[in-house]
Amino acid sequence: MDLLRTKSVEQSLSDTEDPDFKLKRNLTALDLTVFGIGVIIGAGIFTLTGKAAQQYAGPAVVFSFVIAAVCCGLAALCYAEFASTVPVSGSAYTFSYATLGELVAWIIGWDLILELMLGASVVAQGWSQYFVNFLDAIGLGWPDAIGPAAESGWGHVNLAAFLLVAVLTALIAVGIKESLRVNLVLVGVKLFIVLFVIVAGLFFVKGGNYTPFVPPSAGSQDASGITQPLFQWIFGFEAQTYGILGIVSGASIVFFAYIGFDVVATTAEEAKNPQKDLPRGIIGSLVICTFLYVAVALVITGMVRYDRIDPNAALATAFQDVGKDGFATLISAGAVAGLTTVVMTLMIGAVRVLFSMSRDGLLPRAFAKTSKRTGTPVTITLTIGTAVALVASLTPIGDLEEMVNIGTLTAFALVSLAVPILRRTRPDLERSFKVPFSPVLPILAAVVCVYLALNLSIETWLRFLIWMALGFAIYFAYGYKHSRVGLADGAPPVDHAAARSGQGHDRTPD
Ligand code: ALA
Repeated sequence: MDLLRTKSVEQSLSDTEDPDFKLKRNLTALDLTVFGIGVIIGAGIFTLTGKAAQQYAGPAVVFSFVIAAVCCGLAALCYAEFASTVPVSGSAYTFSYATLGELVAWIIGWDLILELMLGASVVAQGWSQYFVNFLDAIGLGWPDAIGPAAESGWGHVNLAAFLLVAVLTALIAVGIKESLRVNLVLVGVKLFIVLFVIVAGLFFVKGGNYTPFVPPSAGSQDASGITQPLFQWIFGFEAQTYGILGIVSGASIVFFAYIGFDVVATTAEEAKNPQKDLPRGIIGSLVICTFLYVAVALVITGMVRYDRIDPNAALATAFQDVGKDGFATLISAGAVAGLTTVVMTLMIGAVRVLFSMSRDGLLPRAFAKTSKRTGTPVTITLTIGTAVALVASLTPIGDLEEMVNIGTLTAFALVSLAVPILRRTRPDLERSFKVPFSPVLPILAAVVCVYLALNLSIETWLRFLIWMALGFAIYFAYGYKHSRVGLADGAPPVDHAAARSGQGHDRTPD
């Protein structure tokens, strides 16, 4: 068995020219930056800032945001180098196929699907919460029976989340450029709201709330058994809130707020000038968001003393506390717009990854056909849309956000390690963007990602292992035998041309 077989960079690039599987190239650096901001700023800043400040770090949550940004920044540099070298749809999955071999590529692709589909579902549920709050604030209402569940549990249908995903699926199927136009408007609204929180909030900041800036550490009894962080269980530490360890725990939580810049790399095949524009889009969106997050965190912890912050809706409640209910309604409206773009962009990312994996034959190839009319892979879009809609509307998601973080951190770590490997195996490739201080910096990036992942709970690690076991089962039952790279290596042909044969066409959504 050859689990280390790689797909050459040239093969990846030439696949993008196959007319049956071709995506349109029409995105500019600005489109990509907007796309990045659209997916990065979302549930994280609107909900997790308060939780992390109140439960883990106090005003020092600002440092948590900086630590998470450094982790993402290091990974972003590695992503940028890869995306500028292998500008093919599929992001980390494609990069690793060219370097670490097919099995690792499959693992990363499978992780990314977890990150993107579950991320979209989690944020769609958050969206439904803000949507219902907003309807209440303007005097309309939404029946509780078909809204977000008041308590976590099975048997409840969240129709609001379902409808959101259904509409977004239709938009994505119509075509990415059209979707980006919608995205542009919604991102504008979201940026306005975030800037509004920063500027309006400044007038209500009280210097006294910043003392102590780093609250003294206190033990916490909250986490035990399988809910405790894996790191703590391995090394026998007691869970800590506040102090230095609290800042680090806060960082592994607010990490969610940065997820999404990597999705920019999944659109590589649709960028006009991927070598230059992808690094700009990835790093540009991350830098802008970091400044905004640090400013929001400073303002919120300055407005409300950290131990009195509302962990569920810190931004809106901070303004209610100072008697500005109208501002709170405006912020809820902005959150509705903001979270919409996040759900859409995460879904687009999931479509791109699944598209690449199917085109490579690791999943049925007919799945990946693009529609002649829209230039988008419609079958995959509908599949992802259905899965996200069902998860978002039927399951009690609860703490599954952590699953999103673990999938992402694993992919970041592997991508970072792949950078020095590709430099060694393919020094000849043109790299219009290079990570400085390689291999030190990519290795540091991987270490930081693994450290943050170890701060996630044992429960999350167990769920993650189950997801990975399912992935391995599919790979060995189907992907290994049907891989185009494997077939080209001389394995018996199976249905190599199925997608282009009559059968393949029958199944296309054209
Ligand atoms: N970064 C995205 C958010 O915060 C996933 O919602």
